[in-house]
Amino acid sequence: MHAFPTDYDQYAATYAWTRWAVPWVVAPLARVVDGLPSGAAVLDVGCGTGNYARALSEHRADIVCAGFDISKPMLREAAARPSRARFVVGDASRAFPCRDRVVGLAFAVDVIHHIERLATFFVEAARVLAPGGRLVLVTDSEDNLRRRSLTKFFPEILPIELQRYPPVAALHEQAAAAGLRLLRQERAEGRIPLSHEFLSKLAAKCSSAMRLLAPRDHAAGMLRVREAQARGERWLSCYMVLHYGREAGVSMATP
Ligand SMILES: C[S@@+](CC[C@H](N)C(=O)[O-])C[C@H]1O[C@@H](n2cnc3c(N)ncnc32)[C@H](O)[C@@H]1O
Repeated sequence: MHAFPTDYDQYAATYAWTRWAVPWVVAPLARVVDGLPSGAAVLDVGCGTGNYARALSEHRADIVCAGFDISKPMLREAAARPSRARFVVGDASRAFPCRDRVVGLAFAVDVIHHIERLATFFVEAARVLAPGGRLVLVTDSEDNLRRRSLTKFFPEILPIELQRYPPVAALHEQAAAAGLRLLRQERAEGRIPLSHEFLSKLAAKCSSAMRLLAPRDHAAGMLRVREAQARGERWLSCYMVLHYGREAGVSMATP
């Protein structure tokens, strides 16, 4: 896996208006939240502009939801929107800003490919999870990367993504080394209409991978998207959802 620099500090305002919590990602997270006791702590690792922390706080009012991110401008965007969730600065490649064994659900959406030190990430996730707690990673498998519309319309993105994303098997290995067992993996998929608004988000480079494309490749991809729009096609968004767990036993509620 190779790190490609993505400057979320510069990207924050664009991210805030181009990205939202998609229902096919909220749903598997919400199912885990539904199984937590009242007062349970939920931690959004690499929360960005807070889309998913906000969605889960709205889904269930009696959980305590917090997010952390390395980018202060992303966190400023998160704080600018009304939410019961709290947001703080933190680096998921180092010590998480969280006490031991208090979190019922820790999750990271679209973050793991940015993490330089995966071993530390998993050790820290295991440290903060309460017994019975769950770590959920929403990421992309190689199969997703090849199937999704982003690759269909912008094929030059694929080699970049194959270098950026850790293979799912490598994630399982690192998780196991930190004492986290794979409980389940599932696909999360949805279709987005190629509306004028969505096309303006693609034109603004709503994905960090698009920001790594040569301008001519981005322009050629936008042309293909407009042709698909004229044919009435929809955009395929797909993810892999990985559930890891610790042993059950002790209450997951925050003291
Ligand atoms: C694609 S965005 C995802 C944001 C959010 N999870 C969402 O789905 O909307 C990736 C986020 O990971 C954050 N990030 C990258 N490296 C990080 C690190 N080492 N620790 C914490 N956050 C990190 C970025 O600042 C950015 O906000």
